[in-house]
Amino acid sequence: AEPPAAMAVPQAGQDGLVLLRRIGRVDPASLDDYRAHGGYTALRRAFAIGPAGVIREVTDAGLVGRGGAAFPTGRKWQATASQPEHPHYLVCNADESEPGTFKDRVIMEGDPYALIESMTIAGYAVGTHKGYLYLRGEYPRALHRLTHAIEQARAHGLLGDDVLGQGYAFDIEIRRGAGAYICGEETALFNSIEGYRGEPRSKPPFPVEKGLFGKPTAANNVETLVNVLPILTMGAQAYAAIGTEKSTGPKLFCVSGSVDRPGIYELPFGATLGDLLDLAGKPGNLRAVLLGGAAGGFVRPDELDIPLTFEGTREAGTTLGSGVVLALDDTVPLPRILLRIAEFFRDESCGQCVPCRVGTVRQEEALHRIAESTGAAAASDIALLREVGRAMRDASICGLGQTAWNAVESAIDRLGAYE
Ligand code: NAI
Ligand code: SF4
Repeated sequence: AEPPAAMAVPQAGQDGLVLLRRIGRVDPASLDDYRAHGGYTALRRAFAIGPAGVIREVTDAGLVGRGGAAFPTGRKWQATASQPEHPHYLVCNADESEPGTFKDRVIMEGDPYALIESMTIAGYAVGTHKGYLYLRGEYPRALHRLTHAIEQARAHGLLGDDVLGQGYAFDIEIRRGAGAYICGEETALFNSIEGYRGEPRSKPPFPVEKGLFGKPTAANNVETLVNVLPILTMGAQAYAAIGTEKSTGPKLFCVSGSVDRPGIYELPFGATLGDLLDLAGKPGNLRAVLLGGAAGGFVRPDELDIPLTFEGTREAGTTLGSGVVLALDDTVPLPRILLRIAEFFRDESCGQCVPCRVGTVRQEEALHRIAESTGAAAASDIALLREVGRAMRDASICGLGQTAWNAVESAIDRLGAYE
């Protein structure tokens, strides 16, 4: 596969790529090839500096979660590592299901050993001997490649009772999801692994205290974990020099929709939305961009100077989420897109709490009425959408219900979708 386009990133490999530097170049089935491309140097450094040293590096690097919520990874690991109750667990959340998100898939299919090495380092840092990799059920190629890579790592002493001869025991078990979006919510994911219905638990307590099987658990997204490799190989300071002061490092963006070259793009945080769309081949008749996925929001074509950072998107009243950039040109029927998003949330609501279970249905009904008319909305439907949206945001248990109205609200307020 052709390597994706990228902007120059200091201290990186060929093409300026950090996270994607092996994708398309390394043989995903070959441990030897992974090693020849720098594999397992980060784990050696982890053993040299010890668990506390790893957590310090990750904290100093300013790494925050790439699943969408941007929680500081060092804080999460420190909080897990310091819990007196044992065992601790590591969970890699690979249930990537946000519409328009496919970055973790590219990593797992193209560089599976990178994830295994990263999980081993994370497990060592938080003091666990067991890592679960919860994989989206619709990713069969990733399953095949990861399964093979785990077997090879075991056979070569890189997983198992004595990793790299350092006396540290660690192994990884893959669990497959069964197609439910909600199982990407970390506590629903724990329930799923434990054999219960995939329903979110109330937080707090946070997983760092009571997570999988009620034990202290560090749950991290795939992209978050693989950032640990460059942090340890290039050092926290050099890593933190990439990006901006508050959003450090490289970021993967999933560009789709009305662009000439859809795909995964790696950019340092701080590039603008316009920079990214120029790389991907923006249409002349751009109507809107959905940032952050179905749980995110729309922005207008005159807002392309928004910096792609957590702080920049927040200041602009939108979100980076998991890095979705879905471009829509002016031939796309917006009311139908909004209806599709609403159908998605209605389908995927787990039904545990009333605001989300009922709200997602009411939202879909109103959008259906609008889509079936000329696309112009009655004032009463807009008022209803706002009321239902507010109730879902304020009173839902988990992020699904809390964000189910984001895209529709932004389409009304920023795009004037039904005027
Ligand atoms: P959250 O803000 O509740 O939590 C984020 C992480 O920080 C969690 O791991 C949580 O346990 C931890 N955390 C938060 N406060 C903590 C504290 N005081 N102490 C210890 N740990 C703490 O967000 P949530 O609901 O986990 O994720 C929401 C995000 O997920 C959204 O931004 C959305 O964009 C994204 N998302 C991503 C998807 C994907 O496919 N990548 C799918 C759906 C949503
Ligand atoms: Fe389930 Fe929706 Fe409530 Fe989340 S907000 S617990 S998905 S019903």
